[in-house]
Amino acid sequence: MTSKIAVFGTGYLGATHAACMAELGHEVLGVDVDEAKLAALRSGEVPFYEPGLSDVLKRNIDAGRLRFTSSYAEAAEFADVHFLGVGTPQKRGEFGADMRYVFAVVEELAPLLTKPSVIFGKSTVPVGTAAQLGALARELAPEGVDVEVAWNPEFLREGFAVKDTLHPDRIVLGLDASAQGRAEEVAREVYAEILSEDVPFIVTDLATSELVKVAANAFLATKISFINAIAEVCEVAGADVSTLADAIGYDARIGRRFLNAGIGFGGGCLPKDIRAFMARAGELGADQALTFLREVDAINMRRRTSMVETAKRACDGSLLGKRVAVLGAAFKPNSDDVRDSPALNIAGQIQLQGAAVTVYDPKAISNSKAIFPTLGYGTSAKEVCQGADAVLVLTEWDEFRSMAPTEIEGVVRRKVVVDGRNCLDPQVWKAAGWSYIGVGRS
Ligand code: UGA
Repeated sequence: MTSKIAVFGTGYLGATHAACMAELGHEVLGVDVDEAKLAALRSGEVPFYEPGLSDVLKRNIDAGRLRFTSSYAEAAEFADVHFLGVGTPQKRGEFGADMRYVFAVVEELAPLLTKPSVIFGKSTVPVGTAAQLGALARELAPEGVDVEVAWNPEFLREGFAVKDTLHPDRIVLGLDASAQGRAEEVAREVYAEILSEDVPFIVTDLATSELVKVAANAFLATKISFINAIAEVCEVAGADVSTLADAIGYDARIGRRFLNAGIGFGGGCLPKDIRAFMARAGELGADQALTFLREVDAINMRRRTSMVETAKRACDGSLLGKRVAVLGAAFKPNSDDVRDSPALNIAGQIQLQGAAVTVYDPKAISNSKAIFPTLGYGTSAKEVCQGADAVLVLTEWDEFRSMAPTEIEGVVRRKVVVDGRNCLDPQVWKAAGWSYIGVGRS
């Protein structure tokens, strides 16, 4: 069955969700306030790098199933299924999430509704938000127009956004106990094709569904900081954290994924989500429950300063007047996102300590220039390695993983490579006469 869907917000989450809902055969209207973004999307251009998304976008625009608008009235008139996919960034100078965009959508949309509607929230929000939004929507909707807010958190990873949306590990749906509405039935219709593939479908209350999302991200962050803490111990004990991770990862209860030690997690989700989670738990009187997340955050931020120290050691104890090549700026490979990117943060800190830093990334250069205009940039690994006293690999793009030492050894001043993501083969680099320094590796 075809649904008429509006998706509010056309960032990573919203643009992907809109395109993928059209791919499932629904009629979809993407809604945003940013006209430049809308113009790009209408012409089939994705305003960020996400493998495979532009094909899905173009295919569905051409098929007439996917359109974009800035008009909430048009969305209210067209759709009876609304997905809310706007951002919930960290507040300036506070741990809590900035909820203004989420509330703005409901405040603007609800009064314009013309037919019984379900609003599915997908954004990551503090627990309790969905119930508040439901009450607000009911209060603002025109007399006699039934509106229900349900929560349907998103678990997509940048770089795998299309796959994660069309073939998710699970679908979670939080229902408002006081609404007794159609949200579950509507969700089953919208996701019928996905659910036919036996994807687990967890129907629960609003609070649980909101918490599932932040708990998942908090667990992932904890797993990464756990292995990075062990890496610190490995360094002083002369052990190897990668072998250790392989060995503990064979235990199915532990699992090997997200146990890659390195310069830690960044991006638009994990760092701000654990902070917002702590802030919300505190508001609810359960602050002690999540104090361990402070440590998770602290371990993660320490990775960055400790990488700067490693770079200094690699440059014979001082960064002053040295040339440092940084390979990778995105917060992870297959993304051009540099929000809270450990790589770029480290590049900036090294420059502040007096080194000339040049950065190369396959996709993230223009985003990097926008926030760190004073760093040097180049268009290839070889170019930025010219005259380098040390080469730092800070994002594990395949291009760097598979790079042979011969590709850059003729141009560097000193054959020193620092592997901030443990993504190179130390034997290969050492055999080629390089000093190799990894993370948590003796
Ligand atoms: C994360 C979650 O993985 C998604 O499930 C979630 O939907 C999303 O946040 C969100 O809340 O929207 P994402 O931010 O795309 O997805 O990135 P991840 O793949 O989780 O990586 C986060 C960071 O952890 C990256 O900087 C990555 O380099 C780092 N990382 C990851 C490690 O340092 N070690 C690892 O073993 C794995």
